[in-house]
Amino acid sequence: MEKIATIVTKDEIQRKVAELGSLISVDYKDRDVVLVCNLKGAFIFLADLCRHITARISIDFIATTSYKGTRSTGTVRIIKDLKLDVRGKHILLVEDIVDTGYTLDYTMKYLALHGPESIRVCTLLDKRCKREIDVNIDYIGFEVSDRFVIGYGLDYDERFRELDYIGEIIQEEN
Ligand code: IMP
Ligand code: MG
Repeated sequence: MEKIATIVTKDEIQRKVAELGSLISVDYKDRDVVLVCNLKGAFIFLADLCRHITARISIDFIATTSYKGTRSTGTVRIIKDLKLDVRGKHILLVEDIVDTGYTLDYTMKYLALHGPESIRVCTLLDKRCKREIDVNIDYIGFEVSDRFVIGYGLDYDERFRELDYIGEIIQEEN
């Protein structure tokens, strides 16, 4: 049997997302910004965040893969590319969680090849204690410790993305 312990509540997430949206709105006031959502984990965060941003936004999706179960394989691949032309545009990359940093590092370098005016990063969660490569993050929702978290878009082998809070699976004996 599995039980889920709450790490960040629905209310805490919603308050933080509104706060991040306000910060981003001020920073990008009167600018056009392309929100690039890294699928699949960031899809719910993006959906809530974009409704708190008052700057002129457009939205696109990119998909990367590196994880199998609860472990990063270290090798990042792009499995879905951008559709919009982002040349000369401001990109805000929206991430679910930064763990070792390899996915973000790879994605940033990949996006830079498309010639944007600027790239910034907004992540819901930062698992800073696990970082293996130095990456710069502009907007952070919550820092989490070394545990595998699920919910609000994040999965464990494709399950639990629909939860409206962030939790951790507790394995019960028997
Ligand atoms: P990194 O390349 O090690 O930074 O891993 C980043 C990606 O791994 C994230 O976009 C997630 O898809 C996944 N990931 C890392 N930690 C967790 C976690 O605790 N729960 C769910 N997915 C995670
Ligand atoms: Mg995942």
